[in-house]
Amino acid sequence: MKPSVAILLGSARSEGNTAKLVSALTQNIGAKVYDLRRYQIKAFDYDFANQEDDFQLLMNQLLEYPIILFASPVYWYAPSAQVKIFIDRLSDFLKLDALKDKGRILRSKYTGVIATSASPELEPSFASIFDNTFRYLGMTNIGSLFRYCENEPEISPKEPAIVEFSDKIEKVVQHISGLRSSKIQVAENTAT
Ligand SMILES: Cc1cc2nc3c(=O)[nH]c(=O)nc-3n(C[C@H](O)[C@H](O)[C@H](O)COP(=O)(O)O)c2cc1C
Repeated sequence: MKPSVAILLGSARSEGNTAKLVSALTQNIGAKVYDLRRYQIKAFDYDFANQEDDFQLLMNQLLEYPIILFASPVYWYAPSAQVKIFIDRLSDFLKLDALKDKGRILRSKYTGVIATSASPELEPSFASIFDNTFRYLGMTNIGSLFRYCENEPEISPKEPAIVEFSDKIEKVVQHISGLRSSKIQVAENTAT
């Protein structure tokens, strides 16, 4: 069965600390990981001249999941450039007539953040970029999973914070599947 969770991995390396945290999480929950390094996505352009790059392809895939998590290291108090470019490009889905209907689908999505940094506390500036963005887009914010990564730690899926976040996600997955089955029930009752 297709998982309910997509994770957008936006690190400058595919096997670094953030990837390890994502991997630990996906040992607990079913999720499909989309590594931004595999996609050619150009920066936002006011003339929307970048429509032929991989952004729409990736967005179309992500929009198939009810839960879309953003995974990013903290680089200079902020999300990685890869994630920031992706977020900037969401404007395409808000501004272009051909994409607006799809952009509105974001309002029905659950989201959250998976983050690593070399500081023991998550930078407030980093967290607020995501909080504000999710609020603006009307997405439901599940919360964040943060792992302090001094150097290159091993990350176990059994770490309490990872288990706690996994449980949170599982509860949302169950909630969504409950809503889906009651919608199907209503449709069946209406048809009969
Ligand atoms: C360019 C760059 C900027 C960074 N800036 C910060 C920072 O502002 N605050 C912080 O705590 N750690 C910072 N770090 C450390 C990373 O957040 C940390 O090592 C993270 O776990 C790296 O994840 P990655 O392996 O997925 O890149 C920075 C690392 C790099 C490479």
